[in-house]
Amino acid sequence: MVQENVFIYGAYGYTGKLIVDLAVKKGHRPVLGGRDEEKVKVIANQYGLQWYAFDCNNQEAWDTALNGKQLLLNCAGPFSLTIRDILPACLRNKVHYLDITGEIDVFEYISRFDKEAKKAGITLLPGTGFDVVPTDCLAVFLKEQLPDATHLELAFDSQSGLSRGTALSVLNRFHQGSAVRKEGVIVPSKTASVSKIIKYGGQERLSVGIAWGDVFTAFYSTGIPNIEVYTGMPPKMLKAMKKASKFGWLIKTWLLQIILKRIVRKKIDGPSINKRETLRTYLWGKVMNAEGKEVVAELETPESYKLTAITALLCAEGVLEGKVKSGYTTPAKAFGADFILRAGGSRKIK
Ligand SMILES: NC(=O)c1ccc[n+]([C@@H]2O[C@H](COP(=O)([O-])OP(=O)(O)OC[C@H]3O[C@@H](n4cnc5c(N)ncnc54)[C@H](OP(=O)(O)O)[C@@H]3O)[C@@H](O)[C@H]2O)c1
Repeated sequence: MVQENVFIYGAYGYTGKLIVDLAVKKGHRPVLGGRDEEKVKVIANQYGLQWYAFDCNNQEAWDTALNGKQLLLNCAGPFSLTIRDILPACLRNKVHYLDITGEIDVFEYISRFDKEAKKAGITLLPGTGFDVVPTDCLAVFLKEQLPDATHLELAFDSQSGLSRGTALSVLNRFHQGSAVRKEGVIVPSKTASVSKIIKYGGQERLSVGIAWGDVFTAFYSTGIPNIEVYTGMPPKMLKAMKKASKFGWLIKTWLLQIILKRIVRKKIDGPSINKRETLRTYLWGKVMNAEGKEVVAELETPESYKLTAITALLCAEGVLEGKVKSGYTTPAKAFGADFILRAGGSRKIK
């Protein structure tokens, strides 16, 4: 990464900080940004980095901050609340756009700007974190093993818990329920309505269907028309989710959203350093073709937030090295199925 040609917005969030710390450890000197001047200043001064503080709807400030930059790594999420202000600024300033979203509607929105991005000569690469790098690589690997696959199932088991931003993103879209892809089309399904037992690294675990980013991206990466994503979940939590899903309409109301978001901001920070350094994440995937032939593959990676910092920076480095075509793309389309194996400590289990 050339010095100071990368701008990280949302730099003082839980994940933004991990990314900044790792970037500096790797010898990079990104410029930092965020909407709270005091918070940006603290982290920038900690590493002696340049900074800008501005609200994400301030287009003039974007033009100033992006002047002379080649790449923006957006860590300010829920991304459904920031993307509509940030993407136009990147297109206008001809700056590559990367983020760590896992939100289906955000992938969908960004992919619509493929043509404009090609015209501007920039890459749009959302989902450079845990969601969706390892699952996207797994999906492409499985497609290579069974090229005529018609069905794809992906799953992960992580004991990390959620960061504040992830919890807020979940809360934002909870009322929309889950989602799967059927015959190429994304269709909504009820929250926690599908569950099954999946074996991760030899351990069986109850897993529930979720609206994970791969429902959008794996179709783009593999062309497989039927896609479901699951996550390991304790039975008690599944029960609670089923109950909560009955009150989706209530959770959507502005008053309850304000109350719940306040609770999340107060109570949730994110996985401790001990968790990040010791936990492992297990991923599982299966493809099936029309004749019923199946191929299964598994991956093991570092803890999901630690992995997010590693893969987001690997993606940024790859784009800056000119390895990725302009326009919208996905991590595995951009770098291949083995990309995940470059994230220190990741390995194929089978
Ligand atoms: N792909 C993955 O696997 C992965 C991994 C980690 C995180 N994420 C996602 O990344 C996002 C951030 O997560 P986090 O854990 O870092 O959360 P966090 O600690 O809450 O940080 C969020 C950051 O975004 C900023 N932000 C939020 N809304 C904003 C807005 N409207 N305008 C400007 N800045 C805004 C926050 O600034 P303020 O504090 O000023 O609000 C903060 O700097 C979440 O959406 C999360 O789901 C994805």
